[in-house]
Amino acid sequence: MMPVRRDVHPHLPPARISDWHERGRHVTHFINALSIFFPAGERFFMDSVRNYRDQVKDPELSRAIAGFIGQEAMHTREHILYNRLMENAGLPAAALDRAVWKLLDLLRKILPRSWQLAHTIALEHYTAMLAGGLLQDSRHMGSRSEAGYMQVWTWHALEETEHKAVAYDVWNTVMKPGPYRYFVRTFTMLSTTVTFWAMVFVFHIALVMADKDCRNKLPGFGSVMRFLWGSPGVLRKMIPEWLSYFRPGFHPWDDDNRAELARIAPLIAEIEDTARRAGASTRAPSLRSAA
Ligand SMILES: [Fe+2]
Ligand SMILES: [Fe+2]
Repeated sequence: MMPVRRDVHPHLPPARISDWHERGRHVTHFINALSIFFPAGERFFMDSVRNYRDQVKDPELSRAIAGFIGQEAMHTREHILYNRLMENAGLPAAALDRAVWKLLDLLRKILPRSWQLAHTIALEHYTAMLAGGLLQDSRHMGSRSEAGYMQVWTWHALEETEHKAVAYDVWNTVMKPGPYRYFVRTFTMLSTTVTFWAMVFVFHIALVMADKDCRNKLPGFGSVMRFLWGSPGVLRKMIPEWLSYFRPGFHPWDDDNRAELARIAPLIAEIEDTARRAGASTRAPSLRSAA
């Protein structure tokens, strides 16, 4: 599997940033909370892999690393724009983004490089699980949600799937097999699980509370609980794959969902079509500069 960098510009109508999902504002803010992690998170992933680039002698894996970095850079660019729409709508996206940068800068300082890479493969497993669910079950994005937002998440999910094994293959290449490697990999999955979801929870609440047009703030969280644990059950369905990470011989492609990647070309055509229909004024000049 060779990841390819694609220069994609999904069109995100600013007016829909807080209610683009068909299930309403609470589910929208939950998914938007995930977007806040990407600029700092994906920079951390790229750096963790770059740290070991010189030790990779396999030319195919070296090419895959280049593709992985190229894809994450494009995702970062589009999520910076996405997050800026939240900030412009009066939501505290910039402050939350700074909190993620601070945490990851701290991890860079205090953790050895191998532990940084271990965090990356754990979080890449999370993005792969979320992406796999999104691609498998159309209810995650819905059918009546705003097109551009569905497209940015579907594009991101497809590329996360395409490169899901790259950081992991680097890990297996540079770390000596044995109990220590297994311990670091699984321990960081446990610690990441606690920290990541605690932060998502806090960010989600912060976005909902800051949204002046969001009525029924407390009862609305029920819709998110149904979305995550009931139907479609985004997190509930993730449990077997989360557990599979603890198998000593785990590999991301054990779950072979590469057939989904056939959707990339038609999706990109659709993204271009949506952007064209929206016209040249889809992006404010101030947003262009962020790219
Ligand atoms: Fe990404
Ligand atoms: Fe990724």
